[in-house]
Amino acid sequence: MESSTHVLERPPEGAAADWTISQNWAAYTADEHALWDRLFARQTAQLPGRASEAFLRGIDMLRLSKPGIPDFEELSEHLMAATGWRVVAVPGLVPDDVFFDHLANRRFVAGNFIRRPDQLDYIQEPDVFHDVFGHVPMLADPDFADYMEAYGRGGQRALQLGALKRLARLYWYTVEFGLVEEKGALRIYGSGIVSSHGESRFALDDPSPNRIRFDLRRVMRTEYRIDDYQQNYFVIPSFEELRRITVENDFAPIYAELDALPDIAIADILPADDVITRGTQDYARRRDGHQA
Ligand code: PHE
Ligand code: FE
Repeated sequence: MESSTHVLERPPEGAAADWTISQNWAAYTADEHALWDRLFARQTAQLPGRASEAFLRGIDMLRLSKPGIPDFEELSEHLMAATGWRVVAVPGLVPDDVFFDHLANRRFVAGNFIRRPDQLDYIQEPDVFHDVFGHVPMLADPDFADYMEAYGRGGQRALQLGALKRLARLYWYTVEFGLVEEKGALRIYGSGIVSSHGESRFALDDPSPNRIRFDLRRVMRTEYRIDDYQQNYFVIPSFEELRRITVENDFAPIYAELDALPDIAIADILPADDVITRGTQDYARRRDGHQA
C-alpha cells in the first residue's frame, strides 16, 4: 500500500539513503516459502474469470507460479524485459517523497517480510505477498506501468501543491482497490483486492458495495476506509483510458477546482454518478454494529 504515515523519519540502520535494503532472499525459511505457496495457490485458484486479463498475463510473464517467495533480482529481470520496472526491497512503509521518487524511476518498493501463519487473511502492514503478488503483475502491463511512473512524478508535485490527499484517493481507488470493465464484465485489478481471499469475491459478487464508473474528480473527493472491505469500488473502462485521463491531464487546476467542493462520504451516491451497482451496504452496516 502507499505510505501515508511516516513510521520513521530516517532510514533504519542497515538501509541505504533511499531506504532500500537487501531482500536477503537466502534468509527465508522453508516455512516462509511454504506460506507464500499456500497464499499463492489459494489466490490463483479464484482469479481466472475474476482478475483482469492484464493481471493474469502478468503472473505468467513474470513466472510468479515458480514455487517460493520470488527472488527480487530474478523477478526484476522479467519485469525489466516487459516494461523497464524493477522491484526493490524496503523494511516497511517509507516516507511519501521516497516512495514517489522510486515510482518516478520505475522502481517498485516491496516489503521483504512475510506475514505470520495466523495472518493469512488480514495484515495491517503490507507484506511481500501483498506487495509482490498484489502489485507487481500489473506493472508488466505497458499502460499501467506508465501510469505508475507518472503517479510518482505526480506525487512529488502534489506534495508541493498540498494536494496529497487527492492523489492518495486516486491511488486507493485504482492501484489498491480498482475494478476494470473487460468484455462487458467487471474484473478486479487493485492489489488490495487481488491479494485478499475474501475481498476478491466480495468486490465482484456481494450486493453490499457500490460499483460506480470512474470519474477522476469524483474519486479525488471521495473518502475511504482502511479497516475493512471497501463500500465503494470505481470501475475504469481500460488501463489505456486510465493512463490517458491521468498522464495527459494537468492536475494542478483540478486540485484548485476541487478546493471549492466538499468531500464525499464513503458510501454516498451522487446524482451525477454512473452507477453500475447501487449497494445495499448491508455488510458495512453489520460490521459497524448497527442494524439495517
Ligand atoms: N498528470 C498528473 C499531474 O499533473 C500526474 C499524474 C499522472 C498523477 C498519473 C497520477 C497518475 O500532476
Ligand atoms: Fe498496496
